[in-house]
Amino acid sequence: MSKVKTGEGLENYVLTLLHCLASISRVCWFGVRKLDFKNLNTWSCLLLINGLLMIVLFGTLHYQRAVELYFPLLGVLVVLAVFAYGCKDFSRHVAFQKAIARAGLRTATGEQPQVQAIVPIGVQRVKVIVETCGVGINKFKAQQDSLTAGFRQKVEDIVSGKDMGQVEIILCARDLPSMVSFHELYSHIKEPYAFVVGQSINGVVTQKMQSLPHLLISGATGGGKSVFFRATMLALLKSSPHIQLYLLDMKRGVEVKEFTALPNVRTAADETEATSMLAALVAEMHRRYEILAHSGHKSINPVRDKLDLLVVGIDEAAALFGRGTNATAGNCMGELARLARAAGMHLIVATQKPVKEAISTEILDNLTGRMTFKMISSAASNVALGGNYAQKLPAIKGRAVWCNGSERRQVQAPFVDDELIEAELEVISQEFAAGLRQNFNALLGGTFNAKISQAKKHA
Ligand SMILES: Nc1ncnc2c1ncn2[C@@H]1O[C@H](COP(=O)(O)OP(=O)(O)OP(=O)(O)O)[C@@H](O)[C@H]1O
Ligand SMILES: [Mg+2]
Repeated sequence: MSKVKTGEGLENYVLTLLHCLASISRVCWFGVRKLDFKNLNTWSCLLLINGLLMIVLFGTLHYQRAVELYFPLLGVLVVLAVFAYGCKDFSRHVAFQKAIARAGLRTATGEQPQVQAIVPIGVQRVKVIVETCGVGINKFKAQQDSLTAGFRQKVEDIVSGKDMGQVEIILCARDLPSMVSFHELYSHIKEPYAFVVGQSINGVVTQKMQSLPHLLISGATGGGKSVFFRATMLALLKSSPHIQLYLLDMKRGVEVKEFTALPNVRTAADETEATSMLAALVAEMHRRYEILAHSGHKSINPVRDKLDLLVVGIDEAAALFGRGTNATAGNCMGELARLARAAGMHLIVATQKPVKEAISTEILDNLTGRMTFKMISSAASNVALGGNYAQKLPAIKGRAVWCNGSERRQVQAPFVDDELIEAELEVISQEFAAGLRQNFNALLGGTFNAKISQAKKHA
């Protein structure tokens, strides 16, 4: 009986030892996978370990003995270092695997999806690649809340992996704030003619107008289009030394009324005013093209050519172009969308649905920068972004998807209220009155000087 017990004890002992060795080698494997031999820090650490070992051995032992011990000890130290390096990733891997188990994800035969790799995306996000073992992506999506609780991180998205048998769970270490003030974000603007897009997980996003070159703001009602429209206009006014704004607001001018007081802003509050303003802008664009033809330059540079940057902002664009009745406005806008960039003129267009019934495809195709607030339907999101990203946004006011070329990220747009806009515009107005700001050209329609003298009187 005691012999059996001894045998069992030995067997248990060997099994435990094997289990420990397997775990140690797994942790080491995580460390080895994480090692980056292109990184200077990796080589610095290895050299440091080697240097310290040599100092200790050759400083304390006889030369022959030190040589004998050098390689075995170096091996042990490297294994220990790799083990320590892999510990964090291993424990994260185990924790993520447990979270999947706790979410109850398994096949009918009881098989569990297996975490394959954890890949960092930027500073705040990671992608967990999971071998599904036959569990469908919809089952993962249905357990999104349980996975968030299990991972202790926000599950931002669950998408199919490159291999059809894999899914990728995108985790975000921190969530975006539900409100960020204009002031907080504006301080990140470091170049002229730029505006603030918003706060993203990886930092504040700002954008230079000339490299955009045109912007479409869309989203369902109440998402934050007009607030963003106004914040963008304010940022451009503040950051640009020589700029003129032409603002068309088909909600009878309510969204842009504060801007009318500035000497470098013209507003249009109804269709007739808007149409004549657009016609004047097209004429100015052709005049600028003639200047370019004479100078031989490819595009207008405000300082070199002594021409102000012109920004045309349209809120509620569907009200102007959507009915199909105002062909003149539509044609002018189409021409501007195609040609205005080189003439130092840029368009910012806000509308609920960017569909061809509201704005022609010719205009839409040229509005390459896209700020899309929450959309109700995936079809509307698809039109704006080529995917249902805007439909999946949380229902938070000011939350949007920013898309420019291949860049796509979720942002919290800057919040600005009427009082702040009035106070900021008052400062700009006084700068004009004091001669601290000067534009190169009069406003189209010639109200620039009249407004300056009005502002001076006011000051
Ligand atoms: N960036 C933001 N941060 C926090 N709250 C916001 C933000 N933007 C908008 N809001 C809130 O949402 C409300 C509606 O915003 P806004 O008027 O811009 O919506 P909209 O998209 O223009 O709607 P509509 O299509 O009806 O004109 C604002 O009054 C404000 O309270
Ligand atoms: Mg609006």
